[in-house]
Amino acid sequence: AKAALGRRNLVFIGLMGAGKSAVGRMTAAALGIPFIDSDHEIERVSRMTISELFAAYGEEEFRALETRVIKRLLNTGPRVVSTGGGAYINERTRRHIKKQGLSIWLNAELDVLWERVNKRDTRPLLKTENPKQTLENLMHARYPIYAEADLTVISRDVKKEVMVEEVLA
Ligand code: S3P
Repeated sequence: AKAALGRRNLVFIGLMGAGKSAVGRMTAAALGIPFIDSDHEIERVSRMTISELFAAYGEEEFRALETRVIKRLLNTGPRVVSTGGGAYINERTRRHIKKQGLSIWLNAELDVLWERVNKRDTRPLLKTENPKQTLENLMHARYPIYAEADLTVISRDVKKEVMVEEVLA
């Protein structure tokens, strides 16, 4: 699988709570290539948390920074990159991902996502009156776009190893 990748990147996309970072990290370890989480990289270069960036500059500025960071990460492949849930939805970022990566959508049902995000509240987009409803609205808006991914893996309550095997196969 590693040889087949060449210099291309494996890019995990999907909603918050789908398991992009966890499955991405394990896939990278299995392939023996570097793993990076784009949100962590954004936090590292800006020296701010994602919540602070949203609060200080707004979503539009965050997306512009996200596009630049992801473009740079993809330029030095092969890597496994896990992206924030909105990255692939942004047209410019999506173009970079399509050009320099194979995308893998971790597709999960609402209850699976909710179960995972509901415990942490670091997501600025879910600071709403009804976060579960917000998550559901995001599913409806985004799933048709995530569906353009090269590969779709259902993210469900199985061992993460099972999903990694699916990706590698
Ligand atoms: C976002 C998802 C977050 C983070 C930001 C915006 C989104 O990443 O990038 O809060 O638009 O869905 P995760 O998907 O890693 O939670």
